[in-house]
Amino acid sequence: MKVYFDNAATTAMDDRVIEAMLPYMKTHFGNPSSVHSHGREVRTAIEKARKKVAELLNASPSEIFFTSGGTEADNTALVSGIESHGITHAITCPLEHHAVLHTLEVLEKKGKIKLSLLDVNEKGEIHLNQVEELLKANPTSLISLMHANNEVGNLNDINAIGELSKAHGAFFHSDTVQTMGHYVHDLKTLAVDAIVAGGHKFHGPKGSGFLFVRKDKKIHPFIHGGAQERNMRGGTENVIGIIGIAKALELAYEDMSGHQAQIEKIKRHFIETLNKELPGVEFNGLSSDMDKSLYTVLNVSLPPSPTNRGMLLFNLDIEGISASGGSACSSGATVGSHVLRALNHNPERDSVRFSFSRFNTLEDVDYAVGKLKDLYLVEA
Ligand SMILES: Cc1ncc(COP(=O)(O)O)c(C=O)c1O
Repeated sequence: MKVYFDNAATTAMDDRVIEAMLPYMKTHFGNPSSVHSHGREVRTAIEKARKKVAELLNASPSEIFFTSGGTEADNTALVSGIESHGITHAITCPLEHHAVLHTLEVLEKKGKIKLSLLDVNEKGEIHLNQVEELLKANPTSLISLMHANNEVGNLNDINAIGELSKAHGAFFHSDTVQTMGHYVHDLKTLAVDAIVAGGHKFHGPKGSGFLFVRKDKKIHPFIHGGAQERNMRGGTENVIGIIGIAKALELAYEDMSGHQAQIEKIKRHFIETLNKELPGVEFNGLSSDMDKSLYTVLNVSLPPSPTNRGMLLFNLDIEGISASGGSACSSGATVGSHVLRALNHNPERDSVRFSFSRFNTLEDVDYAVGKLKDLYLVEA
């Protein structure tokens, strides 16, 4: 049996997304910047996709910029946001994805900003009063705090953070890569200045993404070149990616609460059976709290075990179970997770992130728990 539990790294594409993309690989191949009919029909399709994304998020099409994925969208928001608004100080958290952390660290090294890292407790929680104190002390700040953590699933109250940001005239960027397509983002009411998406996290194509930047917080381009994306991102558009991400988002919104209920059932069943069958099992961050964590992620900490130490992902892989130790770039068992390190996770215990999609079943969970029991209880 093969079980795919690494949906926070990437998801399988929905067949309907592939169907929507196919004509743009076969017949509609024109360059959208060309003025002839081959180009114009593709330009029209891109603008239709932009309108669809904007409609779903309750934003204006002029606030949506297609990118090559979440990483580029994060880089654009941070680098250009800081530059365009004369920002000298940034607030973030040690649990952010490297697309955010490394970008801000580079800006700090170059002397462009002073960087403040928030404190986190052993569950990975931050405190908004620390954000407020930092905002009071630093009048031109950017805040970058993710909606949901990709490793332990902790959810941040981005609306509350956004209201704080607004009150202090700051720029608020939130990395929403793990929640886009899984939660409703109503940008008319949600107090964010910039959010991002990567299509492959919600059954769309890899190498597709977008950035939302609020109209009154306009930023300069990050990638210079042609006049594509209304002068905001040079380079011939990834047409099939744009068609695919818009279709994937449309499908996600068609039955979001149905998908959520189905995946929550899977996660709840996983927690319950692990608690029942594997003594000593623990959960990292807030991932076992159904209200405070992303419903697609469960980060499990297993009791110390000499036979599995450092080999757990490998042992699961042999049994046909694909899971991960952290974010995609550090999913090899030997590279430590900066998130678990920040939570002071006991290095004697192996941790594994199981992440779910609507293509998973309860049988997948029973299979994985059965194999974990085989791996851990033989020693007992
Ligand atoms: C929270 C978060 N931000 C950013 C990214 C990067 O997105 P992409 O792979 O689309 O560049 C990821 C992907 O793992 C992520 O989980």
